[in-house]
Amino acid sequence: MTSKNTEVVLSLRGIEKSFGIQHVLRGVDLDVHRGEVICLIGVSGSGKTSLLRCMNLLLEPDKGEIIIEGAPLFRRTGAEKLKLSNAQINSARSKTGMVFQNFNLFPHRTALQNIIEAPLIVKKVPRAEAEAQGNKLLARMGLPDAGHKYPSQLSGGQQQRIAIARALAMQPTIMLFDEPTSALDPELVGEVLAAIRQLAAEGMTMVIVTHEIGLAYELADRVIFMDQGVVAANGDPRELLLSDTNPRLAAFVGRFTEQARLLSPLATPAGPSSTKSNKQG
Ligand SMILES: Nc1ncnc2c1ncn2[C@@H]1O[C@H](COP(=O)(O)OP(=O)(O)O)[C@@H](O)[C@H]1O
Ligand SMILES: [Mg+2]
Repeated sequence: MTSKNTEVVLSLRGIEKSFGIQHVLRGVDLDVHRGEVICLIGVSGSGKTSLLRCMNLLLEPDKGEIIIEGAPLFRRTGAEKLKLSNAQINSARSKTGMVFQNFNLFPHRTALQNIIEAPLIVKKVPRAEAEAQGNKLLARMGLPDAGHKYPSQLSGGQQQRIAIARALAMQPTIMLFDEPTSALDPELVGEVLAAIRQLAAEGMTMVIVTHEIGLAYELADRVIFMDQGVVAANGDPRELLLSDTNPRLAAFVGRFTEQARLLSPLATPAGPSSTKSNKQG
């Protein structure tokens, strides 16, 4: 996405989270703009998943403020916590759709049943309407005939596309992805990246935790580098991923480009885009 929209749809302020004595988020500020694609990168343990889960309150921060489309989802400053009704929380949460690393589909339900579950139960959409919408989403994900199949009958790439369809079924404002391709066999990564690329082209607002440096380079409007629980770098992927002003970021990116170079004798040594050609070859 190149068209910049200045409307903030998700705002995080001073987000802090500890697990016991481990301070994993140490004051994170982040604004997500409508239509923006943000890729969140960083070494394992830097707090990416925790931050993403805070964005829809799957994980409750200890401190800070979360606002989605102008409505507060969470606020705690000092000992004072903003009281919100369940309806307010559910309404704000339903504006985000989450896609997990391991798909998290219900194993005993078909693909279509997985997709229509939340619209039926949470949004009380009539079944026929939910099914029609679900079938449209299946087609949009390139799986028009998968509706009656169970997750175990589908490949990882197909399951992840069903999981994306399931998140889209609630018509979220923002899609959140936690390493959506990292549990996949390499040959299945491309089909999921293609689905994500398509959503970006349609203007979906997305926050994507990813190790696909190539995806970040090519697709992101903004890359956020998380390091030890803070946003250590934040900017245009072309500038950020190729710059050496943050040595820890440069080392992180270097690992991937070096890997790509070793794996593909044809990959140019020019930068992170070599990962892309390598991964999707
Ligand atoms: N539920 C939890 N209980 C205890 N520690 C956790 C929990 N979730 C995450 N952590 C710890 O918090 C740190 C950050 O984890 P995480 O947010 O998953 O990082 P990342 O996604 O960047 O790998 C890690 O050290 C992890 O072990
Ligand atoms: Mg993680």
